[in-house]
Amino acid sequence: MSVLEVEGCSIRFGGVQAARNVSLRAGEWEIVGVIGPNGAGKTTTFNIITGFYRPDSGRVRFKGRDITKLEVHERTALGMGRTFQNVGLVKSATVRENLLTAQHLEAGYSALAGMVGLPGTFAAERRLRARADALAGILGLGDLLDTRVAGLPYGVLKRVELGAVLATDPDLLLLDEPTSGMGPEEAHTFGATLLELRREFDLTVVMIEHHVPLVAQVCDYVYCLNFGELLAEGTPDAVRSNPEVIRAYLGQEAEEVLQESAPS
Ligand SMILES: Nc1ncnc2c1ncn2[C@@H]1O[C@H](COP(=O)(O)OP(=O)(O)OP(=O)(O)O)[C@@H](O)[C@H]1O
Ligand SMILES: [Mg+2]
Repeated sequence: MSVLEVEGCSIRFGGVQAARNVSLRAGEWEIVGVIGPNGAGKTTTFNIITGFYRPDSGRVRFKGRDITKLEVHERTALGMGRTFQNVGLVKSATVRENLLTAQHLEAGYSALAGMVGLPGTFAAERRLRARADALAGILGLGDLLDTRVAGLPYGVLKRVELGAVLATDPDLLLLDEPTSGMGPEEAHTFGATLLELRREFDLTVVMIEHHVPLVAQVCDYVYCLNFGELLAEGTPDAVRSNPEVIRAYLGQEAEEVLQESAPS
């Protein structure tokens, strides 16, 4: 079954056709990559999927349901989770508190009820804490659970942000350049973490990513956008050896960028 289907979506901003007839799909437990040069329409496509933009034409389906007209929060409630450059962590709170805060939005009872210990919330609270601890373990944050977020390095903050999104238990995770600011080693480790997260939490992932070794490491399927249009799709190997894709990256050291191999 397809978890996500984008069918012929287009959107124009003034003179810029940011997306033109873009179609892509992600099946259950797939990790799908979206690549393409700067300004290709990758983030625009994410904004159409998550509901920040309404396409001029085309449709978006999530778990078989047409969600094209749904609001962002309605899509979130259906199980769509997305990371931003900045998820809005509470800087004065600890890592654990940040993970738990995100979960309270999902838990179906008010944070206040949880704090005053109203009957019936203890079991739920225990479940949330167990999930926060499991997430922290996988994301390598176990030793930092009681540390305040303020002052943690950028790479760690990105992992806390990912943890906060995962704490809401999404079925589909959308990652916009998750390894920006990471070195090759850290990006490779992130790839291994992502594979483990998929296994643990039954995730489907769509990931915008410039780091081609990571795409080759984790993606089952890749779409390449250029000037708002789909230029190529297929396995990571097929896409990065596609002559049109290489040409699209010209001026961005194409061969180097696309054929670089992952550290072992
Ligand atoms: N809200 C908007 N208003 C006007 N133009 C927009 C808007 N959103 C996107 N665009 C334009 O659409 C084009 C595609 O932008 P988009 O952000 O989707 O590119 P991208 O592939 O994510 O690039 P990058 O790799 O740099 O993040 C760009 O020309 C951008 O300026
Ligand atoms: Mg972008």
